[in-house]
Amino acid sequence: MQYHPTAIQSATRTAETAAVAPPCAMVIFGAGGDLTKRLVAPALYNLVTAKRLPDGFRLIGFDRSLNTVEEWRDSLTRMMDEFVTKCGGEFSADHIDQTAWRWLTDRMSYLKGDITNPQDYGRLKEHLAGLDKTAGTSGNHLFYLAIADRFFSGVVAALGAADMVTEKDGQWRRVVIEKPFGHDLPSAKALNAEILKTLKESQIYRMDHFLGKETVQNIMTLRFANGLFEPLWNRQHIDHIQITAAETVGVERRGKFYEVTGALRDMVPNHLFQLLSLTAMEPPISFDAEAVRDKKAEVIQAIRPMTPEWAMKDAIRGQYDAGTVLGKAVQAYRREPDVASGSNIETYIAWRLQIDNWRWAGVPFYLRTGKYLKRRWTEIAIRFHQAPYTLFRGTHVEQMNPNWMILRIQPDEGISLQFAAKRPGPTVTLDNVRMDFAYESYFAAAPNTGYETLLYDCMIGDATLFQRADNIEAGWRAVQPLLDLWGSSAPADFPNYAAGSDGPAAADERLARDGRAWRPLE
Ligand code: BG6
Repeated sequence: MQYHPTAIQSATRTAETAAVAPPCAMVIFGAGGDLTKRLVAPALYNLVTAKRLPDGFRLIGFDRSLNTVEEWRDSLTRMMDEFVTKCGGEFSADHIDQTAWRWLTDRMSYLKGDITNPQDYGRLKEHLAGLDKTAGTSGNHLFYLAIADRFFSGVVAALGAADMVTEKDGQWRRVVIEKPFGHDLPSAKALNAEILKTLKESQIYRMDHFLGKETVQNIMTLRFANGLFEPLWNRQHIDHIQITAAETVGVERRGKFYEVTGALRDMVPNHLFQLLSLTAMEPPISFDAEAVRDKKAEVIQAIRPMTPEWAMKDAIRGQYDAGTVLGKAVQAYRREPDVASGSNIETYIAWRLQIDNWRWAGVPFYLRTGKYLKRRWTEIAIRFHQAPYTLFRGTHVEQMNPNWMILRIQPDEGISLQFAAKRPGPTVTLDNVRMDFAYESYFAAAPNTGYETLLYDCMIGDATLFQRADNIEAGWRAVQPLLDLWGSSAPADFPNYAAGSDGPAAADERLARDGRAWRPLE
């Protein structure tokens, strides 16, 4: 650990080495798309450099947009090179290890095909059978759906119709489904019902990329591998919890998607609820996937159902106006490409919610997320109760600051604890100090996209970091009243926050009514 203000530099540790994944053929539907280029291919490359992929690994691209494997390889190689020359992408590296990259590209093949054409699945099936015989992929097939969500159920049904997902003779067949998983509770339920006609729950890997972040995974370790924190982790000691996912990006080129999505759907039932559930869940009986997912489902189910009256008071929506973000002038949401000039879509949401269980009764959880805010910052901030004042009455300590524990998810990943210390000198003057653990200075971790662990887990069959059908539905159930209310109420008073600010004033006022304040995005 590293302590502030007197820093004690700890020894640097390297990331642990794990076993090699079993042989398998991984098929990417949507091989020519952005997700494949920006995240999946770099993550696979990282798995190669970490020596986690077996000799019998093969990568099969399936798409309409490219013609040959050479074209596919070239487009991925160009993107990898760009990551080196232009920093700031999802993946960055100072060089590409050409031997590792060649290891991967040598194992690539490509099928030009249409996901809506049943015959193309027949060709894919034959191709996979060939690889199983000649390339040692052992009949294990991982299908990755990097495609628009409206095609999810069709592709799963087509895989079923072509008899490509039946597991036999110890050979596994798994399907990875990206978000968005549904658009609201009815559509999420319908999608679950549809894909469960073809697949067993154990074959479905519903992905939420927040769970690929090391710091998110570390929440469970922090809570359950230490004796120190868990005894304090409850209503007796915690005043409230703030969960923030502030972004400095706007909607970029995603206007079309965002106009039917908005910040609530895009971030809350999935990413923010992951952070919430890991923070608030009861200890599972083991780290087994079912045990963990049971506890996560329970805590989301314990979110107090919103009534329209509470929603009006406790959920605040915002939409960005023109402003300056990180020194750059940007335009209002309503001026973005593919966005309606009078759009009523929120780019910001703050929500005060309550978890009705023994541990958390009376402890508010404040969630907020938004685009074009002052700073890119994702954290979970736990505010402990004030110490009794009496001992220090008459000194300067009436303004004593509270204890916070901050789990910094990104950037600058780490954990800090804020507490009071006496300033050196003859009077009792208290100051706030910080004990700080920074990942970067403790672990020499290789750069990663966050998809490495998730892909590897699919290959080894560990579903702990994936969403079960009931987890997904519980998330949508909790936000549905808000979707209903905002969908049917009068248009909001948008735009109501300047790009580059902390968000709408109403979000500050909501906390002020509770005698609290958001942690500044400084
Ligand atoms: C995605 C959302 O799921 O998560 C985006 O669709 C958002 O709108 C992104 O920007 C945030 O993820 P990260 O990893 O950049 O914090």
